[in-house]
Amino acid sequence: MRKPKICRLVLATCFGSFVLVIFYFQSNSNPAAEQGNLWNGWQGKAGRSPLQTLYDSDQGCEENHSRNQNLLFHAFELSAAQVTHQSRRDLLERTCQTYTRKRRVLTPDDLKHLIVDDRHGLLYCYVPKVACTNWKRVLMVLTGDGKYRDPLKIPANEAHVPSNLRTLSEYSTSEINHRLRNYLKFAFVREPFERLVSAYRNKFTRKYNTAFHKRYGTKIVKRHRPDPSDEALEHGDDVSFEEFVYYLVDPHTQREEPFNEHWERVHSLCHPCIIHYDVVGKYETLDEDARYILQLAGVSDRVHFPSSSKSTRTTDDMTAQFFHKINPFYQKKLYNLYKMDFLLFNYSLPTYLNFR
Ligand SMILES: *[C@@H]1O[C@H](CO)[C@@H](O)[C@H](O)[C@H]1NC(C)=O
Repeated sequence: MRKPKICRLVLATCFGSFVLVIFYFQSNSNPAAEQGNLWNGWQGKAGRSPLQTLYDSDQGCEENHSRNQNLLFHAFELSAAQVTHQSRRDLLERTCQTYTRKRRVLTPDDLKHLIVDDRHGLLYCYVPKVACTNWKRVLMVLTGDGKYRDPLKIPANEAHVPSNLRTLSEYSTSEINHRLRNYLKFAFVREPFERLVSAYRNKFTRKYNTAFHKRYGTKIVKRHRPDPSDEALEHGDDVSFEEFVYYLVDPHTQREEPFNEHWERVHSLCHPCIIHYDVVGKYETLDEDARYILQLAGVSDRVHFPSSSKSTRTTDDMTAQFFHKINPFYQKKLYNLYKMDFLLFNYSLPTYLNFR
């Protein structure tokens, strides 16, 4: 009987790769210094990786000032950005220490949102509704071997074709560890409720998003609307923000499957307490944070981050209006659901909420 043996072998192999865990030790002391010398392929200024650029300029201003800083960018802008990003990293680190007890290891599944740029040594964790289309476009320009020049010439739907960019989950364990240690890791975040309202408006109030209406809308109507019409049950295209909130805070929802990435928390998409991001950009300061990253990568003269049109943007006022319709009990539940994103990224409790 050979068959069972082969089966067992195949099973063992599958299981083996499935539970593949990545031990990712990151020393907080200048990680770029460890292996930086091995790298020559960088196209950054002065032949250094973005991570080296970041940490070289962070330490010992005295020594580096005359040698490097003038080469990089205006000293004033550099130091202001450095201070901002250092304090964001510190706050993130402190919050992680306070709120997360067990350290767990990463699995390849955790790395699906990390986009890799091997040419410039960048890892970008994309968060939907936080300028991720434009970041994907920029990364396509950076990794595209001259195939693209202007990010805005890349159609939005093309930026979301998975095969156009590589994610860290596609690499082997040692390749993953190497990249986590040596690449500049960054993510962009946004005020959590503004992001949520933006996701709601985009996915549930636009006629063309039929895929979301079918997949989520019909389910939300069925579960959270008393006496739904047959029409609504079939199309799921008129979900109200209140119903969406009921869906989110219902424990059943997450037991069934993880949240869709458009409303999943950054904490769960990017694992900021396990992966130590070097730069946490914010939607609120998108243009300057994007410029800082492109400068660190040494490509600011070649690629400009597209400035976004402000016309259809979800604002704080708009968010407040949506939340006025939500009863305080559910406001509180929703806040608890997104609490880690508020704390980790220094967003305060919105003043329009009326529980306390
Ligand atoms: C956190 O936010 C407050 C204002 O909302 C600001 O004054 C403070 O500098 C921020 N801290 C960090 C570490 O970004």
